[in-house]
Amino acid sequence: MRLISLDKVREDMVLGRSIYRGNGELLLKSGTLLSSRYIQRLKDFGFTYVYVYNELLSDINFDDIVSDKTRVQAIACLHDLTNNVRKGRIVHLGGVKESVENIVDELIGSRDIMFNISNILTFDEYTFQHSVNVTIISVMIGVAMYYNRDKLLDLGMGVILHDLGKTLIPGEVINKPGKLTNEEYEIVKMHTWHGYEILRSNPQIKVTSAHVALQHHERYNGSGYPRGLRGKHILEFARISAVADVFDAMTNDRCYRSKFPIHKVYEYLVDNSATGFDPIIVDNFVQKIALFPKGTKILLNDGRSGFVIKQNFRSPFNPIVRLFWNNGKDLPKPVEVDLLQDENLSITDVIED
Ligand SMILES: [Fe+2]
Repeated sequence: MRLISLDKVREDMVLGRSIYRGNGELLLKSGTLLSSRYIQRLKDFGFTYVYVYNELLSDINFDDIVSDKTRVQAIACLHDLTNNVRKGRIVHLGGVKESVENIVDELIGSRDIMFNISNILTFDEYTFQHSVNVTIISVMIGVAMYYNRDKLLDLGMGVILHDLGKTLIPGEVINKPGKLTNEEYEIVKMHTWHGYEILRSNPQIKVTSAHVALQHHERYNGSGYPRGLRGKHILEFARISAVADVFDAMTNDRCYRSKFPIHKVYEYLVDNSATGFDPIIVDNFVQKIALFPKGTKILLNDGRSGFVIKQNFRSPFNPIVRLFWNNGKDLPKPVEVDLLQDENLSITDVIED
């Protein structure tokens, strides 16, 4: 399977992973032959990348770190929850809690996994998908920091609801494609207080978790909002969510800009560690990001090319690759190389064809 831009999808390609909309609705099942009609439909929905089946990698397992079922259930819960908030109904968090438990239980046993970006999303439902991604990334960071299950659940509950306050901000401001005016930006900033107000008196969530809604835009050097808190004055849960939030936002397409390549996001986080973000949290996280996710087509410095098939734990620059070509010509047979074992070999480029 490999992730490719929808613009590069040809009509004879087979979909490698099912695609869902933000409300949990299945759009296209994996295994579907991609016709021009389907490709156009996906573009109309705002999708930009899909996984397609690749017979050169048919033996590689591309299962996500969190199952589609858990993701879809979590997104659907947030969908219902925000509808209730908008209508002024009482907020029940039982469904969300169950989703967070599922996410934690799927991640807790896997301290040595690397985070492969594999989420495929639509613009219109961005907030829900984003909240679930940020939760998954935050819980991964919590696992890397040796949190126990109870603490992971509290972290997850806070993070999954971190942007709930956006529900009360007018849609035309939240989804505005251009730059916000100062006045509009002040309105957007209020989502932190709105979220906190909705959650803080709810008996189904701890006050420390509710504080993630209030503090997730605070920055380590005090440059964030709403209160300009600094360093350890920001709750650790919120410091974790800040790293996860920026990472997910930068690695996905948004209405106002297209996504950054993952190594750029990596550089941004490392460069801003200690100023914008807690350096210990950034350090825990960057070691676990797959800079070249499984299925990425890469070129080595010796002219050979192929695909990433596996990550080396805590060594994101040096995955294990399966090589098929040398300077564009087929190798006699595919070769697998562990880049961690060979100091002279390195990835020089990502090939998008
Ligand atoms: Fe936010």
